[in-house]
Amino acid sequence: MGRVEGKVAIVTGAASGLGAASARLLAREGARVVITDINVKDGQALANSLGEGAIFLRHDVSDEAQWVAIIEQTLSRFGRLDILVNNAGVVVVADVEHTTVEDWRFVNAVGTDGTFFGCKHAIPAMRRSGGGSIVNLSSLAGIGGYPLVFAYSASKGAIRAMTKSVAVHCAQNKYNIRCNSIHPGGILTPLVEGFIKSAVGTADASMDKARDLFSKLGEPDDVAYMVLYLASDESKFVSGSEFIIDNTATITEGVVPT
Ligand SMILES: NC(=O)c1ccc[n+]([C@@H]2O[C@H](COP(=O)([O-])OP(=O)(O)OC[C@H]3O[C@@H](n4cnc5c(N)ncnc54)[C@H](O)[C@@H]3O)[C@@H](O)[C@H]2O)c1
Repeated sequence: MGRVEGKVAIVTGAASGLGAASARLLAREGARVVITDINVKDGQALANSLGEGAIFLRHDVSDEAQWVAIIEQTLSRFGRLDILVNNAGVVVVADVEHTTVEDWRFVNAVGTDGTFFGCKHAIPAMRRSGGGSIVNLSSLAGIGGYPLVFAYSASKGAIRAMTKSVAVHCAQNKYNIRCNSIHPGGILTPLVEGFIKSAVGTADASMDKARDLFSKLGEPDDVAYMVLYLASDESKFVSGSEFIIDNTATITEGVVPT
């Protein structure tokens, strides 16, 4: 029996990186998985590779109307909703003095608005399913405030606080819905490769250089296993909590990189 056998999960931004790893692991452990993303090609390919228990739906998380449709399609296809992984996120490399209003709105539309809409619309569906687990992808940036990614840090801080509000709201109302946030350090995914290339200011930063910058880069599965734990009933007494995954980087180097 899989660790999330019989459960139905939505994973946003699951065409790539941490979302793809989480969707694969949830499917392997018995969940039926709705993979959503704006990247149709890779999202559909992942769903195809996972067989009948997975479907892909095109979904821009910053659009509330699309959330309503995604939840409806999930319920009509699989009959219930137990797990939501609010994973989709984008980064713009710019400090507070160089962040444009467009940068700010873009990053917060995907990260902050997307997570808000996901929580808001998943809760009623989870209640009808008898409960559920919401897992929000924040970041170390949401704890420390990374100067190089100002809008991203603000969005991840909002997600961190939103998670606790949702957790307490659901607990107070006895919804049997949990909500937790994950705060990875550097994990090697396309997002981080892009960040490193912008940060070092070259188009061809080698992964050796990247490994210098992120001396402790993890792998997507290092985060996916935490998603799996929080999605499963193994974590039934865990809600409103935050989980750092950084192999000691915060302790040894501080939460704000220098
Ligand atoms: N990789 C890391 O080191 C790291 C560290 C901390 C937090 N995170 C967070 O983990 C999450 C996943 O990051 P990743 O590294 O796998 O990134 P990634 O770029 O590999 O994947 C992000 C996915 O989100 C999708 N996406 C972008 N805009 C979208 C939208 N409007 N609607 C739906 N999907 C959209 C992209 O198409 C992509 O498939 C993000 O929230 C990120 O901020 C990552």
